[in-house]
Amino acid sequence: MFLKKFKAKIVPSSSSWWLMARTAFKVAVVGAGGGIGQPLSLLLRQIEGIDELALHDLRGTKGVAADTGHISEQGTVSGYVGNEQLVPALQGANLVVVTAGMPRVPGMTRDSLMQANGGIAITVTRAMACACPEALIAITTNPINIIVPTAAEVLKEAGVFNPRRLFGVTTLDVVRSRKFIGDHMNIDPEKVNIPVIGGHTGPTILPLFSQCQPEFRGDTEDIERLTHRIKEAGTEVVMAKGGAGSATLSMAYATSSFVKSLIRAHNGQEGIIECSFVASCMENVPFFAGPLELGKEGIKRYLELPDLNEFEQKSLDKLLPILKKNIEAGINFAKTFE
Ligand code: LMR
Repeated sequence: MFLKKFKAKIVPSSSSWWLMARTAFKVAVVGAGGGIGQPLSLLLRQIEGIDELALHDLRGTKGVAADTGHISEQGTVSGYVGNEQLVPALQGANLVVVTAGMPRVPGMTRDSLMQANGGIAITVTRAMACACPEALIAITTNPINIIVPTAAEVLKEAGVFNPRRLFGVTTLDVVRSRKFIGDHMNIDPEKVNIPVIGGHTGPTILPLFSQCQPEFRGDTEDIERLTHRIKEAGTEVVMAKGGAGSATLSMAYATSSFVKSLIRAHNGQEGIIECSFVASCMENVPFFAGPLELGKEGIKRYLELPDLNEFEQKSLDKLLPILKKNIEAGINFAKTFE
């Protein structure tokens, strides 16, 4: 009986076999005191494989660290406050999640946040370039379509840009697609798989219903209605919050799910596919959200875009020029920032 119990303790479960043979993993969250950062920190505490969680913000993180540090999960949590503690928070991080920045209020587009959030992104990226140049970077700060190219430019200037390690988190678009399609088809949303490509603004988000698994049940009108809802879901939340910001809880949920995938892939789990906004290998658009296979060092493989139907192809043709303008704006922002 004793032997049986003992054996059960040392044999890892199939989901956590990789925990046995790995090195310590540090995650830093920048913006951890904010609306996304706080619930994200809570959710990250529940992810297997995070040994150290460093929570940074201009205020509030000592409390969030003490609070989440009392949860009966493995790993340590520390709070870092103010610009002078940014580099210490990032030092030695294997993964940095950037959530810092201002949210939208009704009437604003995500693009219009660039003035407020572009400078923050540059400061944080410069700090990452010096404190943890090899870290995986996951950015949720809006406008993602502009901020990610800005960050890439800053990393290039510092000579540490690795396109396989920089991600704009677009998982919320997939999460919303799963939920809306699952509800429409009367099935468990978690059983729905659908790639969402393009970028992360109303005009650039493109869910590929032709690739939906299980096969989408509905007519053209359903597809158009649901596509519109997925594209405008962020605005739906902004309107519902009536001036108190944008999606925080669902964004934290989606980001923690993306982080879980990054960590599992880093630890050797095979076949992990996620859509994310990254430096692309597509001919005419330098950044693009598309399906990727994740691996030990970030992106393992860029998956080819599937054959699109006429509606999807037309939508893609329409969104590419918008995306290109966003990307140019991001690169210019970095080049002209003082
Ligand atoms: C979202 O999709 O909910 C976020 O990008 C926040 C926003 O401003 O819409």
